[in-house]
Amino acid sequence: MDVYLRCIEEDCQHRLSANSKSYVCPKCGGLLDVLYDFSFSDSEEVKRTFECRRLSNDPLDLSGVWRYRELIPFCDDSTKVVTMREGNTPVYDAPRCAEYTGLKRLYLKHQGLNPTGSFKDNGMTAGVTQARLMGSKIVACASTGNTSASMAAYAARAGMKAVIFIPDQQIAFGKLSQSLDYGALTLQIEGDFDEAMKMVKEITEESDVYLLNSINPFRLEGQKTIIIELLAQRGWKVPDRVVVPGGNLGNSSSFGKAIKELYDQRFIDKMPMVTIIQADRANPLYRTLIYQSPRLIPMQAHTLATAIKIGNPVSWKKAVRAMDWTRGWCDVVSEQEIADAKAIIGRDGIGCEPASATTVAGIKKLVQTKEIDEDEDVVAVLTGNLLKDPDYTVNYHQDSLFEMATYKNELIERKDKIQSTFANAPVKVKPDKSEILRLLSL
Ligand code: F0G
Repeated sequence: MDVYLRCIEEDCQHRLSANSKSYVCPKCGGLLDVLYDFSFSDSEEVKRTFECRRLSNDPLDLSGVWRYRELIPFCDDSTKVVTMREGNTPVYDAPRCAEYTGLKRLYLKHQGLNPTGSFKDNGMTAGVTQARLMGSKIVACASTGNTSASMAAYAARAGMKAVIFIPDQQIAFGKLSQSLDYGALTLQIEGDFDEAMKMVKEITEESDVYLLNSINPFRLEGQKTIIIELLAQRGWKVPDRVVVPGGNLGNSSSFGKAIKELYDQRFIDKMPMVTIIQADRANPLYRTLIYQSPRLIPMQAHTLATAIKIGNPVSWKKAVRAMDWTRGWCDVVSEQEIADAKAIIGRDGIGCEPASATTVAGIKKLVQTKEIDEDEDVVAVLTGNLLKDPDYTVNYHQDSLFEMATYKNELIERKDKIQSTFANAPVKVKPDKSEILRLLSL
């Protein structure tokens, strides 16, 4: 199989070897794709192979990424694969979310049930495997918390050193605790994610350290399997729409590439629309589209959904391409809408971290504006686990979630309270049987 990197810019398309350590095109600075000379004579046969692997105990077949290896065939040495049985995430039907959004049915694919609790594991198994193929000993990333947790775990499995660059403020403790436990060198950069990203890019350009942010196209190859697995789980019945949160825009980029490749290789006969939802004060992609700007309009991002607090997303051009290919679109939701949608996802017994709830909030908005029809077959991708950011959830249910929480030195400034519309606060009670029975109305 011929594997190579190619610049995504139409007027460049410069080709590089798959083993090149470039993250962007050396000629024009454009983003790179991993490409293959695919030629499937019978896609149904390949689908059956995927299905049969579900009965196998081979570690590659047990992985919800490598099970689909014919569609990510960049690794020619299976002994190098670093896997933790990632993927394999369920698709739930979510009746309360459906009712809340105004849809007849709604399905949630819960990537938060991955080994480290987020969709990043789908990408990291691929990224760390490529690092190993290249002989790298040190890997690095900037992160709002999930990429770093995932990279730290996979690097530990591979016996590599992990260096992570995280913002010194507003990182959810669930995520920080993971990176510390998995032994990563954790650098808290004074500043936000965008500053951390800038630093890690400069450092990895000038050293042998291998960069594992989603600008690395091998990460995105792994994340393609979120779509592939979703379709396999649905017996290859293509949904009308897939809704995904937008932060650094790696996930939406990989969804677009997966859908286009599956369509071109005749695994599917229509493309689901990729709909990206951003927080309304962390919405650089949305603003860029609205102003029809040929360049990204970066911004200082604010949101309590810290995973997507990103103002200068690296993969924005690939995300635009995903929307172009699939006739998708991007929209925004408020902090209040995110918080309430998250509580409703919880009521379905599923739960997620705040960034994931942008999806259900966005669907509700788009049903209201009639962009989405109530009969549409919609899948929302929940990207992170509820336990990543318990503070947010507890504050919401205790009616003490504030939109702006700025922590500077000892000064804590709090503004704009979020209404706890669906609060379920804990009840304080004395250790007294009759009082408890009275509370239970028994
Ligand atoms: N949801 C969660 C839970 C995330 O952690 C992220 C990104 C996103 C959504 C957005 O995905 O960047 O592919 O558009 N988190 C990154 C991190 C940035 O560092 O963990 P995206």
